Amino acid sequence: MKIPEKGTNPDDVMEMLKRARASDAAWRRGRTFSLVYWADEEHTDLLKRAYCEYFSENGLSPLAFPSLRKFETEVIAMAADLLGGDSNCCGSLTSGGTESILMAVKTARQWARKNRPDVEKPEILVPRSAHPAFYKAAHYLDVGVRLIPLASDFRADANAAREMIGPNTVMVVGSAPAFPHGVVDPIESLAKLAQDNGILCHVDACLGGFLLPWLRQLGVDVPPFDFTVPGVTSISADIHKYGFAAKGASCIVYRSAHLRRSQYYAWCDWPGGIYVSPTMTGTRPGGAIAAAWACLQHLGREGYLRIAEKIMKTSERLKQAISSIPGLRILGQPPASVFAFTMEDGDVYLLGELMQQRGWHLDRLQDPAALHIMVTPVHEGVVDDFASDLAECTAEARARSGEPVSGMAAVYGMMAAIEDRSQAEEIAIDFLSQLMTLQG
Ligand SMILES: Cc1ncc(COP(=O)(O)O)c(C=O)c1O
Repeated sequence: MKIPEKGTNPDDVMEMLKRARASDAAWRRGRTFSLVYWADEEHTDLLKRAYCEYFSENGLSPLAFPSLRKFETEVIAMAADLLGGDSNCCGSLTSGGTESILMAVKTARQWARKNRPDVEKPEILVPRSAHPAFYKAAHYLDVGVRLIPLASDFRADANAAREMIGPNTVMVVGSAPAFPHGVVDPIESLAKLAQDNGILCHVDACLGGFLLPWLRQLGVDVPPFDFTVPGVTSISADIHKYGFAAKGASCIVYRSAHLRRSQYYAWCDWPGGIYVSPTMTGTRPGGAIAAAWACLQHLGREGYLRIAEKIMKTSERLKQAISSIPGLRILGQPPASVFAFTMEDGDVYLLGELMQQRGWHLDRLQDPAALHIMVTPVHEGVVDDFASDLAECTAEARARSGEPVSGMAAVYGMMAAIEDRSQAEEIAIDFLSQLMTLQG
């Protein structure tokens, strides 16, 4: 394909964009339970205006754009305060949870190079339920990963972790909450373990960082997970998830500036000048930074509490509806709006397929097989429809138990059966390569 010879006028280009999305996920109708976090129309409109105001500016240079420097440092300071930190905390805005996690792992590696010369090949302890961004970071940075098994409540087994600490361990990780089951790891025990061994402890609060603190204020029993826990040295928290900012905004926050130094990168011998950059990317879109700041200003604590209350009430109604259907069971004790459920008397993947046919997109989990829910404000109005479709589909899945399956149910079944996991990874990469090939 070549770039078109002649340009197209703006209205027609916009029309082409709108037409292209015809078969995209219908998230506005509340039928998708991941990927999009949307507060309301007025808020979204402000984010777009703030983003466009700083559309061309580049956060790579805080000297050229002191306004972006102000926004970034203020967003990080507000996030640190929300996460129980003090004025010694500092951090960076990144493009998303994955980049924040990459930075946490890079910091741990660099910190060990400077402070732990005895470490030969740094490794991190990561709960099995932690986000794949940790494996991706370890893969990019050539850091070893040891997997902490989960206890029967789906939280990281801190006793097992204690046995796994070795001379090369530089960081222990916990999630608040972890994506799959929505449970918060035993952060106090994991952080104590890190402290006892003189190493770092990172809490991945990409999902919960901008939600759990408000839920706690609303009286929800939220386990300790933030800087008030001794030994926690860094936290990732996504503003583009439950912070309701524009996409491309996450925070990595450190307990002290000393640690953040290990994240920064400088190259001073380039003919192009002295290059110093805080995060993974070079150019940093000013729009995402400005929109994150505008988002916090607009919602304020009041707005966040209002949204958190709506999310919690909707989550309770959904949990109640699911638990009241015979054969369905919620996994563990998820305190917030992220949770998973399994089917005890039938194929839960078939249930997922049947729901999909009715327009509901639920992420699939494995080991154990389950379906995933992540509640946002758009789900407030769909609880009753969801509950009745789920009850009917559960009955159908039970009746069709044992029949050959198709669609994602077949894919998950096939992938689970492959013993050699590197072969499974090759298949997944083939699938993505096919998908990302230009279609005629
Ligand atoms: C717990 C957790 N950490 C990290 C991430 C990665 O975030 P992102 O997709 O913004 O890179 C996610 C994404 O869902 C997550 O749920």
